[in-house]
Amino acid sequence: MTATQDTLANPGTVGFIPAPPERMKAKPDENRLSFGKIFTDYMFVMDYEDGAWRSARIQPYGSLMLDPACSALHYSQSVFEGLKAYRAADGSIRLFRARDNFERMNVSCDRLCVPRIDVDFALEAMKRLLRLEAEWAPSAPDTTMYIRPTIIAVDPYLGVHASEKYLFYIILSPSGPYFPDGMAPVRIYVEDEYVRAARGGMGFAKTGGNYAASILAGAIAQKKGFTQVLWLDGTQRRFVEEVGSMNIFFKVRGELWTPRLNGSILPGITRSSVLALAQAMGVRAVEKDIDIYELFDLGARGELEEAFGSGTAAVISPVGMLRLRNRDLIINNFQTGPLSQRLYDTLTGVQYGRLTDPFGWTETL
Ligand code: COI
Repeated sequence: MTATQDTLANPGTVGFIPAPPERMKAKPDENRLSFGKIFTDYMFVMDYEDGAWRSARIQPYGSLMLDPACSALHYSQSVFEGLKAYRAADGSIRLFRARDNFERMNVSCDRLCVPRIDVDFALEAMKRLLRLEAEWAPSAPDTTMYIRPTIIAVDPYLGVHASEKYLFYIILSPSGPYFPDGMAPVRIYVEDEYVRAARGGMGFAKTGGNYAASILAGAIAQKKGFTQVLWLDGTQRRFVEEVGSMNIFFKVRGELWTPRLNGSILPGITRSSVLALAQAMGVRAVEKDIDIYELFDLGARGELEEAFGSGTAAVISPVGMLRLRNRDLIINNFQTGPLSQRLYDTLTGVQYGRLTDPFGWTETL
């Protein structure tokens, strides 16, 4: 296969390797899309070696050739991002705060000793891939094109050290809602045995290891009938951190509370959007340490009015119930609260272009 070259911003050129016609896949039924299972025909790839990102190219989607000794597989030296492209009613494709994702990726890179990427270049490469694959962007209600940029360390060496070679790739997945039941309230298990991350660790970075650390507790909670776990801080197991794939919010006595970013919590882009939207709606939004035992006491007194998770994949996901050891706390009669609904409607309204965007968060592809 040969690559045709044309010029793009730093670091140079982007090649294009066309897929043979027999490799082009049939488009899925948009009304039956689940999350993250189907991928488009092409992906963006570039390599890092000899101290620079090089060989940027769009190539047919497919398996990667990796040495079985490579550092990402053994020591999890890898980072990723998750963002979405939205099909608006007029057919255009919109991006939401995409630059923030690539800037956060560089923060994760620093923590994992992965070389940074050029944000402008990565954005442009992603847009080019999206334009090529525009026909795959679904338009059915609540569907999106989920975008997964990833960097993995590929040195074939079993010593624990920063790799010298990396692979950056972007794949696209036409997707439905993250939770199969959409915006229905979920049951969350408060985890007070296992911890996801501790301060000084890598909890603030978007890296696979944080999610690997969460799988056992998540599986145990699911067997008990819960959707995800709510993590507590790694030292005292008392202060609320985040949920499996989301940041967490509580509406208490009319205020919106979320844990402050303390180093072990992911600085979610949806989280920061919710804080801004709440303030614009005249709701006082507070980032603070939240003691789970006090939260249950507030709930018992009827002062915890709503709870919801936030995330790119999960959007706004109402929490209907929390279990802490043998205590159950039903929130808002297991119904979606009015603030949660309003935030969901406003956020998705801006993302899909149904509402004007006073924040400058969106752009059309
Ligand atoms: C996202 O919300 O995009 C994420 O990356 C979370 C992931 C675990 C689904």
